[in-house]
Amino acid sequence: MRIPIVAGNWKMYKTEEEAFALASDLKRRLKDVFGVKVILCPPFTSLFSVRKAMEGSSILLGAQNMHWEEKGAFTGEISPPMLLTAGCKYVILGHSERRMYFSETDEFVNAKLKSALKFGLSPIVCVGEKLDQREANKTEQVIERQMDGAFKGLDAQQAAATIVAYEPVWAIGTGKTATPGQANDVHLLIRKLLGSRFGKDCAERINILYGGSVKPENSGELLGMPEIDGALVGGASLDAESFEKIVMSAVRS
Ligand code: PGA
Repeated sequence: MRIPIVAGNWKMYKTEEEAFALASDLKRRLKDVFGVKVILCPPFTSLFSVRKAMEGSSILLGAQNMHWEEKGAFTGEISPPMLLTAGCKYVILGHSERRMYFSETDEFVNAKLKSALKFGLSPIVCVGEKLDQREANKTEQVIERQMDGAFKGLDAQQAAATIVAYEPVWAIGTGKTATPGQANDVHLLIRKLLGSRFGKDCAERINILYGGSVKPENSGELLGMPEIDGALVGGASLDAESFEKIVMSAVRS
């Protein structure tokens, strides 16, 4: 049985002080929640204070990106050991905003994925098609290319330590959500791909999260789908009440 995961991707929002306040509020609201893993992914500058705010709770910490090297002359970058010392257990990789605005390729995502696993961080690997690709019936092709690119060279044991997030680009921050059926179909495809590459047992162990305009109004239905093992939440994770409701809907499903 896969334990559902609800991860908040705060993107480039919240100063350190605001981040501390939001994390403290969430700690209070989620202190009695069991049966769901909650992960907060604040900006790098707030990792320490969010960790401090969450102390003594079961809420986990993640980062939104990292470099694949351990150290080096890479101005503006953050390494896996730096994330570990900040208290991170998870790292989001290959988010569509990284791919779109910072030219991240499948090769980059692959290098980061291998590095995260080497250093003991659990990667949340994002894949998803753009609107024109969906309309041209290329969703399957795009997802397969991104999955194969990201997971290239991994063995089943490594693959089993990952989390996948299906985030249709046309649904991110747009208010448009994939219908539960549409999302479930792609999750099924992802699980089949994982099964054919790494074996059925491995594929059954991997959490596949849905992301793209998840909010309290739609989270229950989405998370109730058999192949949807949680949510990667952007906008709605910036509001404690909304995020709490989404987490609660994961517990019930
Ligand atoms: P959204 O973002 O919930 O604001 O659509 C999701 C994401 O980008 O992870």
